[in-house]
Amino acid sequence: MKKTNIAVLVSGGGTNLQALIDAEKNGIIEHGTIRLVVSNNSGAYALTRAENSGIKTEIITRKLCGSDEAVEKNIIRVLEENDIDLIVLAGFMRILSGEFTKRYDRRIINIHPSLIPSFCGEGFYGLRVHEAALKKGVKVSGATVHFVNEIPDGGEIIMQKAVEVREDDTPETLQRRIMEQAEWQILPAAVEKISKIMAEEA
Ligand code: GRF
Repeated sequence: MKKTNIAVLVSGGGTNLQALIDAEKNGIIEHGTIRLVVSNNSGAYALTRAENSGIKTEIITRKLCGSDEAVEKNIIRVLEENDIDLIVLAGFMRILSGEFTKRYDRRIINIHPSLIPSFCGEGFYGLRVHEAALKKGVKVSGATVHFVNEIPDGGEIIMQKAVEVREDDTPETLQRRIMEQAEWQILPAAVEKISKIMAEEA
């Protein structure tokens, strides 16, 4: 069976990318293979993680391309060149256009660090998500993997995991616990689930 070819889009540290790389190495992801890492930030440590594992990288920044449209055009070009089936957004700090998400309908997935539909949508990224959760006083938060459509964090939910919120949490401690206990587990699990479906359909 042909494996699902995966591209991971990143902007930052890449701990979720690392979780995916490790999951492919130890067989948790068996129906997919990470063929490409694309970053819109030339300084992203995620690029080093990819290089350390021998994964091809592409840097596509607004500065290099000149406009948002040109960024997407170049992303599409490298996805096509590398025969990519599935796009995984793992800390990719950029909202993709409706045109882009329609082109790759049900072929883009994202990890969001809360239980959607709480604390999501435009403006909810990074520590802001956890600040909002603590401000509201929720006792559980967590992470969600979902398909990406034209509505930010609005696509169909694939997997979720809840994480306890502690009395003494700061946005930083909550962020870390959600990564360790939820994101790094459900992202590889969801990628395997979708890769398997896509590989069987191909
Ligand atoms: C994660 O919290 C993820 O949920 C969010 O951005 C962060 C990326 O972290 N979308 P990393 O680059 O994977 O370490």
